[in-house]
Amino acid sequence: MNLIICQNYDEMSDKAAEILKEQLMNKPDTVLGLATGSSPIGTYERLGNMCKNGELDFSKVTTFNLDEYFPICSSNDQSYHYFMNENFFKHINVKPENTHILNGETDNPTLECARFEDEIEKSGGMDILILGIGRNGHIGFNEPDSTLYASTHMTSLTADTIEANSRFFERADLVPTHALTMGMSTILKAKKILLLANGRSKLEAIKKLLSDDITTNTPATMLKLHPDVTIICDYDAYADVRIGIDIGGMSAKVGVVNNHKIIARKDIPITPESTTASITEDLYNACDEFRKTYHTLSVGIGTPGLIKNDKITASNLPFKDFALGDILSKKLHVQVKIANDANCAALGEQVAGAGKGSKDMILITLGTGIGGGIILDGRIFSGNGSAGEIGHMCIETNGLPCPCGGEGCWEQYASVTALMRQTREAIEKNPDSILADCGKEKVSGRTVFAAIEKGCPVAEQVLDTYLDYLAAGITGLLRIFDITTILISGGLSNAGDALLIPLKEKIKLPCELKVATLKNDAGIIGAAAL
Ligand code: GLP
Repeated sequence: MNLIICQNYDEMSDKAAEILKEQLMNKPDTVLGLATGSSPIGTYERLGNMCKNGELDFSKVTTFNLDEYFPICSSNDQSYHYFMNENFFKHINVKPENTHILNGETDNPTLECARFEDEIEKSGGMDILILGIGRNGHIGFNEPDSTLYASTHMTSLTADTIEANSRFFERADLVPTHALTMGMSTILKAKKILLLANGRSKLEAIKKLLSDDITTNTPATMLKLHPDVTIICDYDAYADVRIGIDIGGMSAKVGVVNNHKIIARKDIPITPESTTASITEDLYNACDEFRKTYHTLSVGIGTPGLIKNDKITASNLPFKDFALGDILSKKLHVQVKIANDANCAALGEQVAGAGKGSKDMILITLGTGIGGGIILDGRIFSGNGSAGEIGHMCIETNGLPCPCGGEGCWEQYASVTALMRQTREAIEKNPDSILADCGKEKVSGRTVFAAIEKGCPVAEQVLDTYLDYLAAGITGLLRIFDITTILISGGLSNAGDALLIPLKEKIKLPCELKVATLKNDAGIIGAAAL
């Protein structure tokens, strides 16, 4: 099944209309299967406009409608005859004799259903069938049951459908209790199927359709038997959203995440004047604003610093033992989870980035320092709150001092800052080298790679020593965790194979070494996935 996920109803209608337009352009005598309900109205409106402005011609088109209430008179404004005429037929140049809707006034439903099946057969069969979906997973009026009918038949409606459709009637007791509908096999015989679903009320039905096995209890799952089904739905029908917040020293990035994709975002600046109260207020307002548009299940926050008992202490933020999650949760009335930002980035990569499919992995962020996150069995391993500080494992006794208070920490040897220091030291010793030339304006993490490209042996030596340190740390991690996937992120990961290939050679243990792919979005996606 193809799945097209749209922002909203309008986009869903645009996409569906485009697909139908293409169908009609390719085959002007298309046999169209049509649905009623609110889902296809926008599509019909667009097709009507296309017909009015001469883009589309329906004069050779034949139509068959999925279903009709029974008993109902075609002049009743709740009949599907009335619906089709009002919402579609009167806006297009289809010939009335080419439109077919089951007769809800018949005194012989069995015969009417057989006649209808025959008509479809005679037309050569439906080329494309537009479907909606009932919130209980019904298709047409094929209601959840232990058995389903193959061909067009009369059926009784479930209480759920009567209730759902009562919104169109003055009173629930006016909703007909029966209907005539194409059967599942009639539907599956259409050459192409286009299913439209929008809004929260369809969430469960779409979830079941996408994830459940084929079952008569969710008739829509039968569509899995068809080779050419396209589902077009909006975010609300596809899944709930979670808000992910990635707090940094300069800003907090707030994102609305749906199935691990960011669908809306807002940046909140953090300045030296920001206080715990102002940051909390800004985050609350951003979440509250998003909540009005998106049904929000939970909020996740990634923050720098230490998290102990859900309280944050971060040196570059005004957070000291600050229960941000708790405060926001009380104000927003949704669950709010907190984790370290690097850990969130690792989780983000695991659920949606280069680590997808690896339940155990470590993300190593090579930047000013070395950060990272350890994911074991699909979850952040945070120990007592601060696990994953891989940059501060000692790899050199009596080594270089580190701001953490330790000595010989890995980040003093294998971060980008360390590589830049090693580059500067080599330039001082080799002022006539290509490396010195490449770094004469400014030394960055890229200088050494630029010099290697120009064939500089001094730069090769610098990178070799640097990679020895980097590989030593990674080998240690692999020894301890025995995992298969290591991801590298941060500025240095842009070097790609120039970094990965020689690094791989120095790591003595088997592992998959990859560059992280989500870049700055990893933190938001990971926080939302908490
Ligand atoms: C009715 C129709 C279905 C339609 C369903 C959903 O029960 N028989 O064909 O798919 O409603 O309607 P809506 O698009 O209004 O949600």
